[in-house]
Amino acid sequence: MAAAQSTTLSNTPTSDRPVPSTLVDISGVQLRYGGDGGTLAVDGLDMKIREGEFVAVVGPSGCGKSSLMKLVTGLVPPTAGGIIVAGREVSGPLKIVGMAFQNPTLLPWRTTFQNVMLPFEIVEAHRHNLRRDRKTYEAEVRTLLDTVGLGDFGDRFPWELSGGMQQRASLCRALIHRPLLLMLDEPFGALDAFTREELWDVLQQIWLQRSFTTILVTHDLREAVYLADTVYVMSARPGRIIAKHSNSLPRPRTLETTYLPEFTEIVHSLREKIRGESVQIKRAPAQAPTR
Ligand SMILES: Nc1ncnc2c1ncn2[C@@H]1O[C@H](COP(=O)(O)OP(=O)(O)OP(=O)(O)O)[C@@H](O)[C@H]1O
Ligand SMILES: [Mg+2]
Repeated sequence: MAAAQSTTLSNTPTSDRPVPSTLVDISGVQLRYGGDGGTLAVDGLDMKIREGEFVAVVGPSGCGKSSLMKLVTGLVPPTAGGIIVAGREVSGPLKIVGMAFQNPTLLPWRTTFQNVMLPFEIVEAHRHNLRRDRKTYEAEVRTLLDTVGLGDFGDRFPWELSGGMQQRASLCRALIHRPLLLMLDEPFGALDAFTREELWDVLQQIWLQRSFTTILVTHDLREAVYLADTVYVMSARPGRIIAKHSNSLPRPRTLETTYLPEFTEIVHSLREKIRGESVQIKRAPAQAPTR
């Protein structure tokens, strides 16, 4: 890996300004879709995420987790409050972010290798250098594909890969340009349990090597506790943070970690908090007794 980590591809932000230790600062954020009277997705949302921190966000379905991701990446503006990423107010789509979603969005006409090269062809800081230094960039792609176990599959097309392999390739594509912030919205949700657990390990390894800041949205509480330094629990819609759990289980975490009583206790306590929220949204509003 070391050979490919040339200065050209260093993990520095595009600006010369020092990056503050709080990378993401979400303060009093509200998002209402569809104008006045529309759906209030999140309200009074506050989060502070340190540089290099691995954060997981869990909460009942429809509570605004994907909306939170869109807000932080600048894909939708908040209707109130503010979001600061790397010291700057978010006012449009961010360039320092890598993203991966539940369904891999690999381009079917490009090989795995070419898919992972894509960010270098798109992100401006790399596009110019790519012409001069293609070999270094290609070496970086090969190294990352090796790290996730896809070294021999670079010339395969996405439809020739299993779901787990496609998701590994998606992770590579999200990370290849060394973004400061990785945003993952249920990236392993469509995979079987064994493949999912393998990918927890793959993601943890890359994160330990590269120490980028991560926000992971997941429905899988074991996944959250396996991977995250901090787990945030969101309330039912309109989403806001109702609990924050700092997870100091030692790293690297393994499947053995998931059998520890401490691990199970954290999972149970998170499950209770979410269950409380899910019950609230199912319960019918109280009605005055009729006679
Ligand atoms: N583009 C949109 N226009 C209008 N309403 C939207 C839009 N996107 C999401 N919503 C609404 O905002 C609320 C939050 O949606 P969001 O997708 O953020 O929830 P979620 O927590 O990611 O749900 P899930 O766990 O099911 O993925 C939902 O009520 C949803 O219907
Ligand atoms: Mg969602």
